[in-house]
Amino acid sequence: MKLLGRREFLESSLLATSGLALIYPRSTRAADSRVEILVNEPVAEISPNIYGHFVEHLGAVVYDGIWVGENSRIANINGIRQSLVEALKRIKAPLFRYPGGCFADSYNWRDGIGERTKRPRRTNFWYGVAGKDVPENSTSRVEPNEFGTNEFLRFCQLVGGKPYLAANLRSLPAQDFLEWVEYCNSPAGSTTLADQRERGPLGSREPFGVEFWGIGNESWGCGGNLLPDEYAQEFRRYTAAVPGYKFPQKFIGAGASSDDLNWTRGFFERMREKGEDIFRKVYGWGIHHYSWNVAGGRTNDWNDAKGDAVKFNPEQYYELLREADKIERFLLEHWTIMGEYDRQHRVKIAVDEWGSWHRPGSELKPAHLLGQQNTMRDALVAALSLDIFNRHADKIVMANIAQLVNCLHSLFLADGDKFLLTPTYHVFEMYTPHMGAKNVRAVFSVPQIKYDRNGKSTDFWGLSGSASVKGKQLALTVTNPHMGEKRETEIVVRGARIASAAARVLSTGDVHAHNTFENPRAVEPRSETVTVKNDTLVFNFAPASVTLLQLNLL
Ligand code: AHR
Repeated sequence: MKLLGRREFLESSLLATSGLALIYPRSTRAADSRVEILVNEPVAEISPNIYGHFVEHLGAVVYDGIWVGENSRIANINGIRQSLVEALKRIKAPLFRYPGGCFADSYNWRDGIGERTKRPRRTNFWYGVAGKDVPENSTSRVEPNEFGTNEFLRFCQLVGGKPYLAANLRSLPAQDFLEWVEYCNSPAGSTTLADQRERGPLGSREPFGVEFWGIGNESWGCGGNLLPDEYAQEFRRYTAAVPGYKFPQKFIGAGASSDDLNWTRGFFERMREKGEDIFRKVYGWGIHHYSWNVAGGRTNDWNDAKGDAVKFNPEQYYELLREADKIERFLLEHWTIMGEYDRQHRVKIAVDEWGSWHRPGSELKPAHLLGQQNTMRDALVAALSLDIFNRHADKIVMANIAQLVNCLHSLFLADGDKFLLTPTYHVFEMYTPHMGAKNVRAVFSVPQIKYDRNGKSTDFWGLSGSASVKGKQLALTVTNPHMGEKRETEIVVRGARIASAAARVLSTGDVHAHNTFENPRAVEPRSETVTVKNDTLVFNFAPASVTLLQLNLL
C-alpha cells in the first residue's frame, strides 16, 4: 500500500458514472470451444495453502468480524464468532496470515498477551495513515488489544488452519521477533515466556508450533520505506539465528507489489552475495497484487482509477478481470528473476495479499475501514486468480486473499449478530477439490471475446480455468467472463476415460448481484446434471459464471 493519498478511505460518495442498466442479449456460442485435459501431464501438487486467508487489525476484520468477546450474545467459542469458525471449517481453510499488513510493522506482540483488562490501548497504524477520517469509536483509531496472539492462535486451532505470523521489522528490534518465536514455540515450562503463554487467557501449556513467519510486510512502503538491498540486509539479520525448537521454520520475505521487478531483483541480488545457500533461509517470496484500476487506461491514480464495488459499468466489469489476470504474467516475471540468482528455485512464491480493492462507499458502516461489498464480479476475480495459482502449483506455496471478513475482498460480512457468506466464499467452497490434488495441464482452445475499452474494441480470453486430479477424481474449474453469452464447450480428457460427471455453477443473471443481510442467499451455487457421451461431454458455461466440473475417471 502506498502511504500517500489515503484520505479516500472513508469517502462515501458513490461512483456516479455506472452504467448498470446495460444488458447484453442472451445467446449461446456454438461448440467452437474445447478444453483438453491431459491427465498424464502433471505440473505439481496444489498446496492447500494457496487457499489461505489474511487477518489484519484493520476496520472490522478482527473486532466484530472474528472477535465478539466471551460475554457476547452472539454465539461464540471463547469469544470467537462461532458462525465464522463453522463456515471456515466447511472450506477447510488452511492458513491465516496475521496481524497485518501494514499494522504488523507497528505492532508489539506483548501488548496482546496476558490479562485482557490490563492490556494497553494503542494508536492503531490505520489512524496514523487515515487520520481524522477514522471514526471516533473505531478500533482502527484506538487498538484495544483484546485480541492478541493467544486469541488468534486459538482461532486457528478452532478452524484447523495454520498460523502465519508477520514480524515487526520496521519499529521493533530483532530481539522482539526472537522472543515472539520463543513465546509461541518454546517447550512447556522451559522459559519465562512459555510460562506466560500458559498463564494467559486461552493459554496453552504446549507450544503453538508456529512454522510460518513473515519478515516484515511491504518493507518498500509502509513497512519501512527501505531499498531492496537494505531489506536484504535486514532479512539476513532477522533470520540468521532463530531458535527452531522442534518446529520447521518457514520464513517469508516481504516481496514486491504487482510488477515491481526491481524490488525482487534487488533483494535476490544482494542475498546472493552471501552465496547461494542463503536461499535456504527463504521459504517464500511474498508477492502482493490488488485489482483496483478500472479506469480503462484513462488514469493510474490510486484514488481516481478505482470504481464502486457494486455500481460498475460493463467496461469496469471487464477491466477488473483484466487487472486480476495480470498476476499470471507478474508471477512468471518475478519467478524468472528469482531463478537468475537462486538457480535451484529453492525459494517459492507466496502471494500473501491479493484481491479486489474498490473505492470506499459500500462498507457496512463507516467504522469498517476498507470494507466493501462483494459481487459476482469479485467471485470471478477470485476464481480466475485461484485458477492461475493452481496452474502454477510448481511455483506457488501459499496465497492469502485480502482480507477475511468486513474488508477488501472478503468471504464474509458481519455486523453484530448478522453474518453472511459472500459470492467469493462460494468460490472457495467450490474449489476445495483442488486442495492437495495434482494440477494437470488443461489446454483451452476458446475464441477471444471483445469489449469496449475507452472507445476501442479490446480482446479478452473466452474461458479460463484449471484442472487437478486426486485418485480417480478430476476437478475442472472454469470461468466464463462474458457478461451475456453462454459458451458451449467440448470437454475432452486425454489419458483416461470419463465414467460420470457432475457440475456446480455459480452465476446469476446480473454481475452486480451480491448477498445482503436481507437476502443472504441471492448468490449461491447450484448443481447441474451433466451428460457424458462416448467419453466426451459438452457443457454450456453460463454467462459470467464460475463452474466446477467433477469427473469420475475410469
Ligand atoms: O490489505 C490492506 C493493506 O494493503 C495491507 O495492510 C497492506 O499490506 C497492503 O498495502
